[in-house]
Amino acid sequence: MKHLLSAADLTHDDAEMILETAAAMHDVQNREVKKLPALRGRTVVNLFFEDSTRTRSSFEIAGKWLSADVINVSAKGSSVSKGESLRDTVMTVAAMGVDGLVMRHNRSGAPLQVSQWVDCMVVNAGDGTHEHPTQALLDAYTMQAQLGTLEGKHVAIVGDLTHSRVVRSNLILLKTLGAHVTLVAPPTLMPSGIAAWAARDGFDVSYDLDAVLPHVDAVMMLRVQRERMSGGYFPTPREYTVGYGLTRGRLALLPQHAVICHPGPMNRGLEISPDAADEARSKVLDQVSAGVAVRMSVLYHLLASNSTEGAQA
Ligand code: CP
Repeated sequence: MKHLLSAADLTHDDAEMILETAAAMHDVQNREVKKLPALRGRTVVNLFFEDSTRTRSSFEIAGKWLSADVINVSAKGSSVSKGESLRDTVMTVAAMGVDGLVMRHNRSGAPLQVSQWVDCMVVNAGDGTHEHPTQALLDAYTMQAQLGTLEGKHVAIVGDLTHSRVVRSNLILLKTLGAHVTLVAPPTLMPSGIAAWAARDGFDVSYDLDAVLPHVDAVMMLRVQRERMSGGYFPTPREYTVGYGLTRGRLALLPQHAVICHPGPMNRGLEISPDAADEARSKVLDQVSAGVAVRMSVLYHLLASNSTEGAQA
């Protein structure tokens, strides 16, 4: 594997290998042996055309803990704000001799396009409404840590599915790892063509969160992405919370062993109540912590285990 652009790039064995290496990286993190020499001499550029807290900083920490040189370039403060094209920007950065680009962009497919222009490794750190594969890996890592395995487990993914790249990567990876998924959303935030998609990819669809919650091993609440909503009818915040929020009342419907996840940033009081976000079953901060270990693992497998020649072949 040269790039990580989609969760579909990962076979079952690839995903297990990345998660196993992440567990070893987590041990390093926990033992406070924070620097490994694996990427000494390698340079990784975090190229973020969209805002980020978790993904950008965890990729930066991950690269640095593997001894890579990590440079952050964001649209604000770069020549992108002067009108430089995506192609000119990435070709300029690549011409400096970097080994890898970690890229976030508001256009679906931008990292794939970039991977066809440059010779170095490209990791998709979130593209439009398309995919966010390292988020799905850290979600899987977090759920596996609590549930032992994802094989045969039931995961509900709830919320603003229309605008979510997290749901697309999770649907692919959870299926690869043997979990069963039910998508839950208000009708106006369910992607079009969902019935055919569900039939093809083998997941369930529901509009009734209360009916689904008692039967899950994990529930993943998604952020309501108001910044991507224009036109169409969307529920008011109150309608949304009443129908689809993980409220204090709904916590009683959730099995005791179940895991609550949220990729962040959370809209507290909208899709998830403070009671749910902060209770013992919530693993939101475990997800953040897993993000560093998983991204160390991804960078390690894409950069350290390939020779420079191999990585650019
Ligand atoms: N989950 C996630 O991608 O968060 P950031 O936007 O903060 O990176």
